[in-house]
Amino acid sequence: ASTSATSVSISGDISSQLHGGYSHPLARSWQAERQLTKSMLILPLFITDNDDEETLIPSLPGQHRRGINKIVPFLEPLIRKGLRSVILFGVPLATGVKDALGTAADDPKGPVIASIRLLRQRFPQLFICADVCLCEYTSHGHCGILRDDGSLNNELSVDRISDVAMAYAQAGAHCVAPSDMNDGRIRAIKLKLIEEGIAHRVVLMSYAAKFSGCLYGPFRDAAGSVPSFGDRKCYQLPPGGRGLARRAIERDIGEGADIIMVKPASQYLDIISDAKEIGKNMPIAAYQVSGEFAMIHAGAKAGVFDLKTMAFEATEGILRAGATIVISYFTPDFLDWLES
Ligand code: PBG
Ligand code: ZN
Repeated sequence: ASTSATSVSISGDISSQLHGGYSHPLARSWQAERQLTKSMLILPLFITDNDDEETLIPSLPGQHRRGINKIVPFLEPLIRKGLRSVILFGVPLATGVKDALGTAADDPKGPVIASIRLLRQRFPQLFICADVCLCEYTSHGHCGILRDDGSLNNELSVDRISDVAMAYAQAGAHCVAPSDMNDGRIRAIKLKLIEEGIAHRVVLMSYAAKFSGCLYGPFRDAAGSVPSFGDRKCYQLPPGGRGLARRAIERDIGEGADIIMVKPASQYLDIISDAKEIGKNMPIAAYQVSGEFAMIHAGAKAGVFDLKTMAFEATEGILRAGATIVISYFTPDFLDWLES
């Protein structure tokens, strides 16, 4: 037997030698439990009722609000690059279309239902999610129906939200994703899906742990959904509320959610990790929201870091925390970046 092993003097513990394990780029990538892939990404789309519109959203670098006539030409090249899924947000711009009940949310001629039908027909392989909420459609800009005193009427809201979800599912959405945060809406939507006999073909993705904070500003600019009075603190979660988020996640799993979402993402990595633990048998989604996206752009513009490097670092952090699906405005960039 060779004596070379004993002739080398090893000082210290050999478990301290880590560098070798990640000395090669491929070995470095093996250190991650999950690699970012194109199929994990969902691209948010803002769709207006102004058919030919294509307007840059100032606070969301490179993102546009589009009318239905502009969506197919926009998506074609992205789908060729590997885009698998979108989430639709309706942005009604016509005057007088908003009311106290958010009637326009499930208008069969409205931009969301029309684009679900169009996209199903033009891109049969594309997985279509529809965000379900009323705030884009209500005159007061809140995510539900209000009582006379301005407080949220949860019962009426849930009834209305679940009708809207049904309309999107019936129009052909593969996934409905209620973002309103009314209590009990997951159960109400699931029951209506079952009743209508379409529960077997619709994914119910719950914005279960959606926190109230200052990271949705650019989205509200884009969607025109700033509340006309008050804020969303009586339905969205307080940023410190980890226990509350865990309860909301448990509840929504119990009510029939197929996917649990955490939102925002990078500021709530512990919640993503909790969701992964509580929902260990289901996919976990994270929404890298408009404020996170805008912040990364602003930081890169200010020379704090390189845009692409930071976009990857932020998103890899979200995956490391436990997400398996990422809703991100960086999706078109990632389709290019993941190519090389
Ligand atoms: C609507 C909704 C919002 C977002 C997704 N759905 C805004 C809000 O709750 O005010 C935020 C997405 C983003 O900031 O990118 N309920
Ligand atoms: Zn809303």
